[in-house]
Amino acid sequence: MGCVQVPKVPSEVESTFASPTLGQVGKATIDACMVCHSTREMQRGPVLDGLPEWYLTEQLRNFKSGHRGKNPSNRSEALMGAAMAKVETEAQLSALARHFAERKPQSYIRVVRGNIDIGRAHYATRCASCHGAKGEGKPEIKSPPVNVQEDWFLLDQLRKYANGQRSVHPGDAGGLVMKAALAGLTPGDFQNMTAYIARDLTVTPPLQKAGSPKK
Ligand code: HEC
Ligand code: HEC
Repeated sequence: MGCVQVPKVPSEVESTFASPTLGQVGKATIDACMVCHSTREMQRGPVLDGLPEWYLTEQLRNFKSGHRGKNPSNRSEALMGAAMAKVETEAQLSALARHFAERKPQSYIRVVRGNIDIGRAHYATRCASCHGAKGEGKPEIKSPPVNVQEDWFLLDQLRKYANGQRSVHPGDAGGLVMKAALAGLTPGDFQNMTAYIARDLTVTPPLQKAGSPKK
């Protein structure tokens, strides 16, 4: 682990140093993240709100160290890798993780279709041991929750683990565990499992399209 160095405080940060929510990162840095991590139309990355602090920290460290984000065939990861240049210190990284973890998970419009029954069966035998029966995750084995993210992102990440766009770095231990967990499953299985997670495990109710009836 080693000891944590006390970072230099850049001027942008000083002004918000006392803010309980922003901690040691300035609003400008958060705004830069939100260009890609909000639900706005121009969004290219997943919504991060409500992911656990430990997992956000872990992934930000992966991007910072190049365990993620250095694979030229994964262009969305590369965007993120580039964005991490703005995060200079471990204290800023931690403050960002805390900021997003403190926010409430967001409702989203479900877009992934699949066979829920088949998805449920696969989830129970292939995923629940690590991600929990409710998709709540298991921090003790570094398995993140899968019940807060948007369905398109879950599906996208399953495809990327399977086709070698995520978890390609030999130092990415968690990613390699996850990649192995998908052995023998097909793209159709990924869709079925994601549809099941989105309908039955996700903690937020679906965001209805304008005008569509409430269930
Ligand atoms: C230019 C767009 C862009 C910016 C700016 C950006 N990100 Fe990302 N981020 C992405 C994309 C795209 C992904 C998904 C990568 C993939 O598909 O593998 C991502 C993934 C992530 C993940 C991993 C999520 C997961 O569940 O695997 C975290 C954490 C994250 N970003 C945090 C941040 C933070 C904090 C900032 C601000 C310092 C930031 N991002 C700025 C585009 C961006
Ligand atoms: C042996 C434990 C294990 C099993 C089994 C497992 N996972 Fe994972 N999963 C992990 C770990 C660890 C991570 C974090 C990997 C990383 O750091 O890239 C992860 C990450 C993920 C992610 C990415 C989440 C994000 O926010 O980026 C998704 C989606 C996922 N798993 C879905 C599944 C599904 C669906 C199954 C069942 C087929 C499954 N996992 C089986 C351990 C497991």
